[in-house]
Amino acid sequence: MPDRVSPPTWAADLAEKAGGADFWVRAPGRVNLIGEHTDYTGGLVLPVALDLEIRGVVRVRGDAMVRVRSLSLDSADEFGIGSEDEGRGPEFGRYVRGVLAALARPPGPDRPRDGFDLTLDSTLPVAAGLSSSAALEGATAMAATAVNGIDPSPEQLVAACHWAENEFVGLACGVMDQSICIHGQPGHAMLLDCGDGTRRHIPLGDLAIVVADTGSERRLSASAYNERRSQCEQGLARLAQKSPDLESLRQVDLAMLEHRCAELSPLIYRRLRHVVGENRRVEVMTEALAGGERSVMGEAMAASHRSLRDDFEVSSAELDAMVESAHDAPGLIGSRLTGAGFGGCTVSLVEPDRTAEFSAALAEGYRRRSGREARVYACRSAGGAAWGRLRGD
Ligand code: GLA
Repeated sequence: MPDRVSPPTWAADLAEKAGGADFWVRAPGRVNLIGEHTDYTGGLVLPVALDLEIRGVVRVRGDAMVRVRSLSLDSADEFGIGSEDEGRGPEFGRYVRGVLAALARPPGPDRPRDGFDLTLDSTLPVAAGLSSSAALEGATAMAATAVNGIDPSPEQLVAACHWAENEFVGLACGVMDQSICIHGQPGHAMLLDCGDGTRRHIPLGDLAIVVADTGSERRLSASAYNERRSQCEQGLARLAQKSPDLESLRQVDLAMLEHRCAELSPLIYRRLRHVVGENRRVEVMTEALAGGERSVMGEAMAASHRSLRDDFEVSSAELDAMVESAHDAPGLIGSRLTGAGFGGCTVSLVEPDRTAEFSAALAEGYRRRSGREARVYACRSAGGAAWGRLRGD
């Protein structure tokens, strides 16, 4: 019942800056503990929703216009519901327009018709690989839902946000980011099977999460991402030539891959070895979380990073330097690059009473190795996107 949730502490301030508002919305960023570049091949992922978030306040307008203003980006956009694709608008507006266009797709009473003014702010770094785009989509979906009194299911919200990013913005991402943004639960990671959509919430216990932004630009990330995706598809198609029943890389295990490596080019073989091994590591990590086996978690994360670096080739000198620095810092349980790679952030699991020491040593080690300043965030896990009423009832 979102409209019974009491407003967060920031909402009154933001409403004042907006000149008055009827609703608040929030949507979390995410960090993926393990299961990287597996979602678009129907694989396993284990993301966590973070307390770094996009937040907003919404005012009902009484017409069909949507006006959105981002205080953190110092940018604004405006469009009519039903005319999302007209006009250019700033880049961030594409995500907002895309979500409105997506929600309007299924004909029927659940389509948004009423416009709104949405004022957004953010504690989530942009373009750092913490999925600020899915958070923007989630916040927009919450605003449209609140104002229009419509009640799409969480699955419909994920599908709308994913459609917005894939079909409207044009980024061929998997479904991990939108799923955790909507379904995240505080205190839990989410084991998502991107093959059949099943989810399990896995308690994080007392583990602390430290996210470290390398501050390096994510160069070529869109084209390299699409290239990796297509290499996985090529590999599957190749293996399926002799195994017509093969529909997904989830049906492939390491022994089978090894046995049939002569059918693949060395490069495609390494790409598939990452994906197949990473699915297995997600299972190992999930069991280790349930059993509190810290050394198993650490080894799974280290193996994931090596595989992303050597087989999938999406790491960077800065990400490697950050992970090496984490391994020298006190209190580490495990560390790896997180998200698409090519720059962006690492995630570390840390002993809860060592977070401050760990973060300081990590920043210092990274400075020494790379000559750059890290931005280090000691994060808490959070719930999925939400909205609530600000005034009236
Ligand atoms: C990006 C995409 C996700 C996923 C990760 C890599 O974050 O948006 O769908 O593919 O990269 O795991």
